[in-house]
Amino acid sequence: DSFPIVAIDGPSGAGKSTISRMLARRLNFTHIDTGAMYRCIALAALRRGIDPEDEAALAELCERVKIDFKRQDGQQRVILDGEDVSGEIRTPAVSLLTSRVSSVAAVREKMVAMQREMGREGGVVLEGRDIGSVVFPDAGIKFFLTASAQERGARRYRELREQGHEVDLQQTIDEVISRDQADSSRQHSPLTQAEDAILVDSTDMTIEQVVEMMARRVRSLD
Ligand code: C5P
Repeated sequence: DSFPIVAIDGPSGAGKSTISRMLARRLNFTHIDTGAMYRCIALAALRRGIDPEDEAALAELCERVKIDFKRQDGQQRVILDGEDVSGEIRTPAVSLLTSRVSSVAAVREKMVAMQREMGREGGVVLEGRDIGSVVFPDAGIKFFLTASAQERGARRYRELREQGHEVDLQQTIDEVISRDQADSSRQHSPLTQAEDAILVDSTDMTIEQVVEMMARRVRSLD
């Protein structure tokens, strides 16, 4: 008996991170936030002054950095080369750069390889954009989680505010929409719903309801 790979894909602000984390805890699975991995590459590039168009430099960067996830006080922390960057990778500047860096083929190749390695034994919830379509097309179960752009922008706004960032609601919604467009139209691994993914629209659902529904579907695999 082996534990399945659970793939959760969808646009930004659909509640993926919170829901994936809660679902993983409920199932006693490991949670892997692949967006955080791309964010780490963007942050590392920013700090080293690497041009986001410089594919060779980015590929080399991917080889050199070390990305880890660590649980601390019930929270998942993202560790880049030994430093806790959980807060810094969520700033609007890093978000923007992440969309560009993640469209570079060499970066995707390295990240996908790393994610396959991390998830190969199963018992994992991987969240991202291309998990069900590219990283693990044979995942035991796939969800495509979405919500209206308005709702997703409003959620991101509240999240950023809570973290103390000075942001504007309409601007946050606009950023969500433009990031969606970039993620859906890029040449390599665009955001798409895998054919066999279960569509979950969370616009009018509570987080608890979504997690409950997903946990039931995963358990029904046994
Ligand atoms: O999920 P999150 O908003 O943290 O992801 C940040 C960015 O990373 C996305 O906008 C997308 O450009 C990129 N990403 C990706 N593939 C993934 C996960 C994230 O391209 N599997």
